[in-house]
Amino acid sequence: MSSNAVPGALWERTVKVATAEQTHALGSALGGVLVPGDLLVLTGELGAGKTTFTQGLGEGLGVRAGVISPTFVLVRIHPNLPEGRRPGGPDLVHVDAYRLGSAAEIDDIDLENTLDSSVTVVEWGRERVEHLSDSRLDIELHRTVGGTDSALDSAETGQDAVLDFDPEDDDEPRTIVFRGFGPRWSHVPEILEENA
Ligand SMILES: Nc1ncnc2c1ncn2[C@@H]1O[C@H](COP(=O)(O)OP(=O)(O)OP(=O)(O)O)[C@@H](O)[C@H]1O
Ligand SMILES: [Mg+2]
Repeated sequence: MSSNAVPGALWERTVKVATAEQTHALGSALGGVLVPGDLLVLTGELGAGKTTFTQGLGEGLGVRAGVISPTFVLVRIHPNLPEGRRPGGPDLVHVDAYRLGSAAEIDDIDLENTLDSSVTVVEWGRERVEHLSDSRLDIELHRTVGGTDSALDSAETGQDAVLDFDPEDDDEPRTIVFRGFGPRWSHVPEILEENA
């Protein structure tokens, strides 16, 4: 997995989780160390867990709850709560760029306004929001089966189709790959060293 080098990435860390709760908890731990101006770009297929992870971020940041999938709302702002985990900390700006075709359309929604004072998290943001900041944390979520990538598995064996149509949303393993870009992310956050 780490053999897939990504141009410009300063480092890469892979974390494996078994349940949605663990994905949430990892987001919450990361949310505890984020600062105003941070940009996070989330990549992963439908249902990979991008929103679940963002809900964890919101908890760790101590923002107003209710981070629901913003599929039909492009941007949601979650104000920091005085009674939350990090009083006085950054707000969370949660963006779903799924329907936004280009960087130009991203510019129309004016994220620059809130970027410096908030943590900005963009689902489906890859190749759409990189121009907004010198630095970004890129987070890729993959469904995993037996420790390997499910897309790879199905291509090779064609045998995991049943798992992909699980209607119960039962807990399944995920592989979450973090990559740092730019000066803000010159070092691996400690919480990733601990969990990797
Ligand atoms: N290990 C896991 N991590 C995250 N979610 C999991 C895990 N196992 C099962 N799930 C389930 O998968 C679903 C993930 O949905 P979520 O809305 O977070 O995905 P998403 O990537 O935001 O999708 P979309 O692209 O539609 O926005 C949830 O129903 C969650 O309970
Ligand atoms: Mg989502």
